Amino acid sequence: MTNFNIVPDRRKNPNLTKWTWYERDILPMWVADMDFPAPKPILDALRKRLDHGVLGYEIPGKPLQETVAARMERLYKWKVSPEAVLVSPGIVSGFSVAARALCTPKRGVAIQTPVYNEFHEVKNNIGIPQIDIPLVKSVKKNILHYEIDWDLFEARVKKAGIFLLCNPHNPLGIIFSRKDLTRMAEICIKHNVVIVSDEIHSELLLDGNRFTPMAKLSREIEKHVVTLIAPSKTFNVPGLFCGFAVIPNKELREPFEKELHRLRLHVASLGLHAGQVAYSGKCDGWLAELNQYLTANRNFLVEFVTKNMPGVRTTIPSATYLGWLDFTQTGIDGSPYEFFKTKAKVALSEGKIFGKEGAGHVRINFGTSRALLKEGLERMVEAMSQL
Ligand SMILES: Cc1ncc(COP(=O)(O)O)c(C=O)c1O
Repeated sequence: MTNFNIVPDRRKNPNLTKWTWYERDILPMWVADMDFPAPKPILDALRKRLDHGVLGYEIPGKPLQETVAARMERLYKWKVSPEAVLVSPGIVSGFSVAARALCTPKRGVAIQTPVYNEFHEVKNNIGIPQIDIPLVKSVKKNILHYEIDWDLFEARVKKAGIFLLCNPHNPLGIIFSRKDLTRMAEICIKHNVVIVSDEIHSELLLDGNRFTPMAKLSREIEKHVVTLIAPSKTFNVPGLFCGFAVIPNKELREPFEKELHRLRLHVASLGLHAGQVAYSGKCDGWLAELNQYLTANRNFLVEFVTKNMPGVRTTIPSATYLGWLDFTQTGIDGSPYEFFKTKAKVALSEGKIFGKEGAGHVRINFGTSRALLKEGLERMVEAMSQL
């Protein structure tokens, strides 16, 4: 059994990380990496590679593509050929490449806001329009729910070149249902919009939830989808920058691959080795334990907020280690991110970076030990008691 209650000290690092970005007295609960060491099979494979001593150039080989394809079949019964798997330095580079390859200055990127901050950078980086399709928020007993407004979805998505879907959704923790995915896909196909499905959080499933990749819904839908996956969030190796684009349709894969090569986006050798072991199945026992721990952390967070933070609303994420808290009905003036950073010495993620609907909200990272999560929440309650 892995003991996720023990987290190594991450402050001894000359580089900027989750733990060194802010001053020492600040508890970091912001950027989406966890405080847990990666599973042993990954660390062993990296040590073995280092023990060899020679760190020459490496490019991804067929065994890596086969491993990824085999994982898709094992997890989802989704059969893809190894050639459909392309390797990139992660998901942000993957969707940036997709936008460059598949959008035009007239037909840009559609996103469901509030959503992962990097989705909002694509427009400037690539020079294309961004089309926001806000999710509709509702509140029941201080629990936040978000839904798709279907008329708005169709009216807006049809103007896009790509629909950049975040599933499971960061920061809302939603796993979209098969019904919703099918409806989104049908609308995109009708209007000739390519779906780029960012599924980076797809293996961080709470409550034993199941996940279906958008492209697995049907062979027809698969033809219109670029699926982006990575071991980085799941096995906590985001610093190794290794991700995969699974693109069974050659007509989409070729422009994507051309752009990937044009930009010379290579993955460092350690990332390739980690990716291979991560997707081999050797770390799946660790992952099952992790998901149980994260589920208990999520329960702790929701219960704590409900009990101790009157007026604060929260999501109940179905996946990810990210919570989303709404402070708009509390006495906090201005940004709760600034408030908690200065008054509680807790660094959360500023809600507005996920879209303008995020004003008055913060994202909290509960991918840490229960003790640190409790400490962060207690500091926040203490700061609110001074209001
Ligand atoms: C939805 C989503 N996509 C992509 C990323 C980052 O991906 P990468 O580090 O592989 O570029 C994150 C990290 O938080 C994320 O939440």
